[in-house]
Amino acid sequence: MAILVTGAAGYIGSVVVEELLKAGKTVIALDNLSQGYRQAVAPEAVFIRTDLADLPGLESAFRHSTIESVIHLAALSIVERSMSDPASSFRNNIVGGLNLLDVMLKYGVTKFVFSSSAAVYGEPDKAPIKEMDAKRPLNPYGESKLMFERILYWYGQAYGLKSVSLRYFNASGASEHCGECHHPETHLIPNILKVASGQFSEVSVYGTDYPTSDGSCIRDYVHVLDIAQAHILALEYLPKSNSAEAFNLGNDKGFSVLEVVETARKVTGTQIRTAIHPRRPGDPAVLVASSELARSKLGWQPQFTEMEDIIGSAWRWQKTHPHGYS
Ligand code: UFG
Repeated sequence: MAILVTGAAGYIGSVVVEELLKAGKTVIALDNLSQGYRQAVAPEAVFIRTDLADLPGLESAFRHSTIESVIHLAALSIVERSMSDPASSFRNNIVGGLNLLDVMLKYGVTKFVFSSSAAVYGEPDKAPIKEMDAKRPLNPYGESKLMFERILYWYGQAYGLKSVSLRYFNASGASEHCGECHHPETHLIPNILKVASGQFSEVSVYGTDYPTSDGSCIRDYVHVLDIAQAHILALEYLPKSNSAEAFNLGNDKGFSVLEVVETARKVTGTQIRTAIHPRRPGDPAVLVASSELARSKLGWQPQFTEMEDIIGSAWRWQKTHPHGYS
């Protein structure tokens, strides 16, 4: 019996694959390589290059071996791009996801872990955010994740699908072999580390006029290895889940952009120049999780909760992979 992982060549997917293999699972890794990297997929996994729009390609993955459950990470995840091109976000994240569900159900697979996002909440009324709090996505990316969570609920009611949606806050850090590498890179920590390593001259700080202590945005950074562990726990939890459940994954602590830069200065021992820019569209001021539910129901216990450790792991990866996977 195998676990199928979609988006397996991406930043989080590649670490999920590594951790599943370490846990002794057989893994079928699926990716269209539009954003991911073949080198990021551990060689012990069976790799299939296909797109979720390609139904015969998708079916070949299910014919390849008996799949017991699916972890679905494949998505277009760049918020800015979703604002300018919502059609692509919805086509990939909704239509692609529906194709996957159709094929799963055709092959009798009813266990599903979904990569959702804190972006479903939009601008929250308070911090920390609980799963039942209001959801008002500020961008098509967050909207697509929320819509798909709702689809999972109704598929649970009608077709007996059991699903767990994991709402990641700010995934960060790296494993030994896999780290964050996007083109273009929009995320804060990799951009800071490119300045530390001399590839960029300065890091942009998008907004210092937010209603926060230092005026910059506050986020909850959670280590990618801890996120990967939550997927394994979610797979174990699925048989006892109530058709569709959602859990926040964060460290329940917020760091401002300027605090992250300051910690990176200490970790890397370099001066990191900053340049203040206007706010980036679609950015909420504060996003901090309450992960109490994941801790109590999934038994999730994040191991890398210190910002120094998160940045330290990303820095080690940056030094061993100065140009990412290329
Ligand atoms: N930021 C900068 N400079 C940069 C990059 C980012 O100041 O070069 C700021 C952003 O404005 C934001 C914060 O740093 O305030 C974090 O930005 P990221 O781009 O690293 O992450 P986001 O919070 O925008 O988004 C990430 C994921 C989303 C997810 C969200 C949930 O990319 O998919 O976390 O918290 F929805």
